[in-house]
Amino acid sequence: TQPEPLKIMISGAPASGKGTQCELITKKYGLVHIAAGDLLRAEVTAGSENGKRAKEYMEKGQLVPNEIVVMMVKDRLLQPDSQQHGWLLDGYPRSSSQAKALEDLGIHPDLFILLDVPEELLVERVVGRRLDPVTGRIYHLTYFPPETEEIAARLTQRFDDTEEKVKLRLQTHSQNVEDVLSIYKDATVKACDTWLTFQIINGSVPKDDVFVQIDSALTKLLEQKKAASASV
Ligand code: AP5
Repeated sequence: TQPEPLKIMISGAPASGKGTQCELITKKYGLVHIAAGDLLRAEVTAGSENGKRAKEYMEKGQLVPNEIVVMMVKDRLLQPDSQQHGWLLDGYPRSSSQAKALEDLGIHPDLFILLDVPEELLVERVVGRRLDPVTGRIYHLTYFPPETEEIAARLTQRFDDTEEKVKLRLQTHSQNVEDVLSIYKDATVKACDTWLTFQIINGSVPKDDVFVQIDSALTKLLEQKKAASASV
């Protein structure tokens, strides 16, 4: 039988590098990237009622209420492409109730990754971040500058990427992170003979070095899945 596709969650503080690593992971592993923040920004841009409400919270660096976020993420996870190719869930869950909403549907990750970056690096990463609206790529004025003048001229900045707002986002993150981690750390213990694992990755090194650590965890996981499906 075919091994089941990978199901990965990636979490970490604002600007810890989740989106950057997701670009590298999807390129190599072909998983469907589902980013809660991107789904919300798409609603904001569309000017929908949910988008208008979500923006009020995002402006303050607070969690958007569950009745908006949970349904959005669930719907995307249950689409045929996510089921077929596997998924990479970025920035969700951010609270125990969000984790529970997935558990209730029987949706568990194979691997929960936490990108660990000291707080003093995060503000600089946020303030220097720029986005290419054409390709969706993430740049940084110092660490990952655009390749051409043409790209440089069209780069945009996110509305919540100011020093003041990132401090609020960091506060929200530190209030919630332990709750979420405890769920997946406990699950790791309970499911130690299945695949669910929890891994802390050092996110303070250059992005390719961060990816080497993630790549090695994913390769191992895929091998385990292949071995399991071969033995069925
Ligand atoms: P979201 O969009 O998820 O923002 P975030 O968690 O604050 O994370 P970021 O997107 O800012 O950073 P990242 O970790 O992806 O870093 P990146 O790779 O871009 O959420 C936004 C808002 O939406 C939240 O505040 C909340 O209001 C709401 N929301 C989202 N999810 C929600 C949920 N589940 N429930 C409720 N509300 C929710 O990298 C950052 C910069 O650093 C870039 O410039 C990059 O080039 C650079 N960089 C990356 N890696 C490295 C490296 N290794 N070395 C040097 N520079 C690097």
